[in-house]
Amino acid sequence: MKILGIDTSCDETAAAVVADGKAVLSNIVASQVETHQEYGGIVPELASRKHIEAINYIVSRALAEADVAFKDLEAIAVTNRPGLIGALLVGVAAAKSLAYCHGLPLLGINHIEGHIYANYMVHDALTFPHICLTVSGGHTLLVEVHEGWKYKVLGSTQDDAAGEVYDKVAKYLGLGFPGGKVIDELAQKGNPSAIKFPRPMRNSGDYQFSFSGIKTSVRYFVEKARRAGILVENGQEPAKDANPDTVTVEDIAASFQAAVVDVLVYKSIRAAKSTSTKAITLTGGVAANSQLRASLKTAAAEIGAEVYYPPMNLCTDNGAMIAGIAYEKYKQGLRDGLSLNATPNGTIE
Ligand code: KG4
Ligand code: ZN
Repeated sequence: MKILGIDTSCDETAAAVVADGKAVLSNIVASQVETHQEYGGIVPELASRKHIEAINYIVSRALAEADVAFKDLEAIAVTNRPGLIGALLVGVAAAKSLAYCHGLPLLGINHIEGHIYANYMVHDALTFPHICLTVSGGHTLLVEVHEGWKYKVLGSTQDDAAGEVYDKVAKYLGLGFPGGKVIDELAQKGNPSAIKFPRPMRNSGDYQFSFSGIKTSVRYFVEKARRAGILVENGQEPAKDANPDTVTVEDIAASFQAAVVDVLVYKSIRAAKSTSTKAITLTGGVAANSQLRASLKTAAAEIGAEVYYPPMNLCTDNGAMIAGIAYEKYKQGLRDGLSLNATPNGTIE
């Protein structure tokens, strides 16, 4: 059973064809990174416009690459929540028109459920219930995932998402946008104990997160170090007679990353322990982070749990995860009419 999945929730125009929830026949993504780069972050209005330009072409390519026509599809699925409202509306309008023209059922999908489903597409050994940590530019969410795609949200961020903070810190350090990958790489050359950044809410006793405090703390540290002339910027070498207080971008990246990863791993392990779950899944763009993967694996091994993450093309925003979870929802009887609307918020239950 083949489903076309469409996602335009943020800054990627994505469409994919997936058979029976798992076999990815095509997975096409048009990234808008270059458009938003000069602004150092995503500009919602530009994102909507770019989606309009790309959507028809991306859908055609998804069908062509999968070697299917509309008549071969069983349904059309589209992310209708949560996300940037203008961006979501483009995908929803496209999906509605196509469903109407080709007489296909339409399914509105929660983007987070797509991210959670991504691991299930590739890891046959994944059991239920499991703990899923979704960490991206827009979301930080710790969820207990039960059989039948039922969820218990344990906690989420009270302010910035983890990826958003990576992007902001990269901006302070003059590293461009998006910043996650470059900070990850620089951190590998730095000392994670060089600066003790705060770990907000680490010991709050619940599963909530807060990252804006870390961000502000890094910002003040960078500004102060620059003023004092002790910051060795990216690409520079420390002088031979450098002030002993000199700090490098690598050290800041490593120390910042240590703080973020520490909180994420601590709470994920706590969640796994409290539910006696033996599987933890990682998903979303930040799941690419080498330190997060390594630390979570080590900590999970200590409690006899396994860590899973999907390949990169299923980790970041894509249409395949939307078509995947839509297959499960279709089997559960979900059908949305042409009155389907987009909404910027939307929790999972
Ligand atoms: O899932 P995604 O592609 O889009 C959203 O739904 O947001 O995630 C993008 C986020 C960005 O904030 C980016 O900086 C971050 O994922 N990211 C990383 C890494 N690669 C991408 N963060 C930390 N380490 C990485 N290696
Ligand atoms: Zn996402």
